[in-house]
Amino acid sequence: MRLFRVRELKSTDTEALLAFEIHNREWFESHIDARDPSFYTLQGVTDHIECYLSDFAIGAWHPFVIEDFSGEIVGRANLKNINSPKNSAEVGYRIDQRVCGQGLATLALRHMIQEAQMRWELAQLVAYVYMENVGSKKVLERCEFLLERPSLNDKAGDECRFVLSI
Ligand SMILES: CC(C)(COP(=O)(O)OP(=O)(O)OC[C@H]1O[C@@H](n2cnc3c(N)ncnc32)[C@H](O)[C@@H]1OP(=O)(O)O)[C@@H](O)C(=O)NCCC(=O)NCCS
Repeated sequence: MRLFRVRELKSTDTEALLAFEIHNREWFESHIDARDPSFYTLQGVTDHIECYLSDFAIGAWHPFVIEDFSGEIVGRANLKNINSPKNSAEVGYRIDQRVCGQGLATLALRHMIQEAQMRWELAQLVAYVYMENVGSKKVLERCEFLLERPSLNDKAGDECRFVLSI
């Protein structure tokens, strides 16, 4: 695990992030909603990073990447919609298919829980996961998120909602 670290997203990550997203596009689209095709260009990723860093500056978003020993981006994780609603945020993460099953999503989620507590002083984290996403549900349960019934949340479809009280 010491071969990987979680750090904040930077404006200089454009090329590395584009490579990561292109390489894993099909993999991610089999588990989570597809991005707009215009995202998969240098300009698209530049705009995306700029937007995330602007939201970070106003305390609405906390974007992270996971990098390996060589500095290659192998995962992403985000604290989203911080304090909307108040004292709450949403978590999201995605890991390069080549390094899945090594605990990286768990590492990233634990990092975000710590940031949510220490930096943002939040009381609750939520996650939305497709029912069939067994790996993601396992990560959430390992970090002590609890499943709520799908019909109770305001996002329709076959996603389920997990909640962690902190
Ligand atoms: C879900 C995802 C983030 C997990 O990342 P990861 O780094 O492999 O996660 P971890 O290694 O921390 O833990 C995953 C656990 O689920 C298990 N797992 C993964 N897929 C599984 C499956 N289909 N059936 C059973 N267990 C599965 C792994 O074996 C591991 O458990 P273990 O540590 O006991 O062996 C990764 O698969 C991914 O990026 N998927 C595409 C994007 C996505 O789904 N994001 C989450 C949206 S909510």
